[in-house]
Amino acid sequence: MSKIIKWVLLGLLAVLIAIQFFRIDKTNPPVNAGEDFMAMAAPPAEVAELLKKACYDCHSHETKYPWYTNVAPVSWWIGHHIEEARGHLNFSTWKAYDAEKKAHKAEECAEELEKGLMPLKSYTRMHAEARLSNEQRERLISWFKSVEEREKLGVK
Ligand code: HEC
Repeated sequence: MSKIIKWVLLGLLAVLIAIQFFRIDKTNPPVNAGEDFMAMAAPPAEVAELLKKACYDCHSHETKYPWYTNVAPVSWWIGHHIEEARGHLNFSTWKAYDAEKKAHKAEECAEELEKGLMPLKSYTRMHAEARLSNEQRERLISWFKSVEEREKLGVK
């Protein structure tokens, strides 16, 4: 191996080691069960289970961080996803949305599921338990549509 390649590789290694000191913040914000989607929208048990498995790691304050979230730069990428996901839709703070926003978010959930955009592919690749069968996807879609209707009508 030429000297230059050796130095370049050593340099890359040094960078990889150095960036490990920049860790993401993995403290979950507090969860108030009464303000969570599960308490407010009260999904049937099988729907609740699917949501916990397929959505809650990103769209709630109940994120579980696997070992590879300790490894930069992968950790930065995942941390950014979670931040962005919570910004768009946060099941832990569902109570804070007014009825119109709840209806809109439920509608978007049905849409994202219909288009197959959620849960993210990069996530299901690593989380087999989050892969939805067609029936499970349909179940979630029709349930989110019913939530949308309920919120529009103001039915609790
Ligand atoms: C790996 C993390 C991850 C998982 C798991 C995940 N999402 Fe997302 N979700 C995101 C990110 C990041 C965005 C924002 C960027 C985008 O739209 O791609 C998002 C956006 C959304 C939006 C759009 C909200 C808006 O305001 O436009 C909806 C709705 C949504 N997700 C629903 C779900 C549902 C329902 C599930 C479970 C079936 C789910 N997501 C699972 C990361 C995730």
